[in-house]
Amino acid sequence: MDQLPIFFNLTGKCVGVLGGGIAAARKAELALQAGAQTTVFAAQLCDEFRELQSDQRFAHVAHEPQMEDMHACALFFCADEDGERNIRTRALANAAHIPCNVVDQPDLCDFTMPSIVDRSPVVIAISTAGMSPILGRMIKARLETLLPAAYGEVAAFVGRQRRKVAGRLKEFRQRRRFWERLLEGPIVDLVLAGKQPEAIAELEAQLDAATRGDPLQNRGEVYLVGAGPGDPDLLTFKALRLMQRADVVLYDRLIGDGILNLVRREAERVYVGKTPQDHTVPQTEISGMMLRLAREGKRVLRLKGGDPFMFGRGGEEIERLASAGIPFQVVPGITAASGCAAYAGIPLTHRDHAQSCVFVTGHGKDGQVDLDFEVLLQPRQTVAVYMGLGQIGPLTQAFIDKGAEPSTPAALIDNGTRSNQQVVTGTLETLARRATEAGLKGPAVLIIGSVVSLHDRLKWYRPDPASAGAA
Ligand SMILES: C[S@@+](CC[C@H](N)C(=O)[O-])C[C@H]1O[C@@H](n2cnc3c(N)ncnc32)[C@H](O)[C@@H]1O
Repeated sequence: MDQLPIFFNLTGKCVGVLGGGIAAARKAELALQAGAQTTVFAAQLCDEFRELQSDQRFAHVAHEPQMEDMHACALFFCADEDGERNIRTRALANAAHIPCNVVDQPDLCDFTMPSIVDRSPVVIAISTAGMSPILGRMIKARLETLLPAAYGEVAAFVGRQRRKVAGRLKEFRQRRRFWERLLEGPIVDLVLAGKQPEAIAELEAQLDAATRGDPLQNRGEVYLVGAGPGDPDLLTFKALRLMQRADVVLYDRLIGDGILNLVRREAERVYVGKTPQDHTVPQTEISGMMLRLAREGKRVLRLKGGDPFMFGRGGEEIERLASAGIPFQVVPGITAASGCAAYAGIPLTHRDHAQSCVFVTGHGKDGQVDLDFEVLLQPRQTVAVYMGLGQIGPLTQAFIDKGAEPSTPAALIDNGTRSNQQVVTGTLETLARRATEAGLKGPAVLIIGSVVSLHDRLKWYRPDPASAGAA
């Protein structure tokens, strides 16, 4: 994040605007909307100011701002058509330590103006750090269509009830739970439909249950969530929703920052990272930790790469919870083979190539290749091998030794779906050498079968060249 978004309380404060043209009028209008006393410094005002002038908080001064004018301001906008005048005034603002915005000159700005979606008291500000206001406006247009115009009424309703709720639910976490549960229920629709009495009745009923100490209201729970192979856009809506609710997150090595940043900011983060060789936190300890945290009443997010039930030991992790009667939910994620295949342009099945696909792990016990080749070496079948990069040589050789054609197409997809994705293709005979030459570091999925030959034609994903080969 290059800039810090904040919401400035301007009620009763003075905002200065330099300029009498349309750009200055827009800034003055915004300042007035935000409750500021607004003084415009300009020799003349254009027609756009006509309506603003009837506002009692609006003042027009015909001279250029002086130091004493500047000291009276909390913020200043330079929106004059004369660039020199803008620069002069900005220097004055800087000398007076007043935050200053120079219209269309991000380099000269102490703060930039976001695109705004206004559902007051809900206000959404979108910034592109001054790099592309047009993109900001496009995002704004999308959000405008997503949020019902009356959404602000929901926030206002909550605002009116906050004190009452705080009076009855003393603990912060209890209150947060209460509001989350309430706002996920029918109350939003009731408020949006203008049914205030019904909405208040619903709130009172829920508040009674929470104050009675209904154990169902305060119990902890665990969310076992699949985060997909890496691209945050591949998260499911449900995953994102639960990520936003967690009190604590236990995550492992395959979870990148892009995904971790989407977890509720206040949630405690616990790394329980694992590598194939080095099980940093033993499985039993992870399960024990989840159990303990849930018993403390916390919402525990167990975030796993790909799908939790696909070579992820998700089943083992929730077994203890099930025996202990701790409530849990499991959210599937896009498994690595499926995500990597899609981003590499290698369909796992295809009418001309393969009618079945098997997913296996190449990480056998004691580091040995331990696969059922009779099942794997079927015609018109794709084999996706997880955790196979570490022994790609012995693995591909074993396929050949068990009867596969050495010329069978094969691919390794390293860091699939991420900005540093690398795809190395070859055959069972050549792939191990090519992988070494490419310096793949994993995680990587191995795909074996004639579908790999489609990669050249169907590849579409362009990773970021700057991050190619990055860990
Ligand atoms: C312990 S398994 C976990 C699999 C995960 N539960 C899933 O459904 O994808 C770890 C293996 O998944 C594969 N993997 C996970 N993320 C990957 C990615 N972004 N690119 C390539 N392979 C990946 C690699 O084979 C890695 O060694």
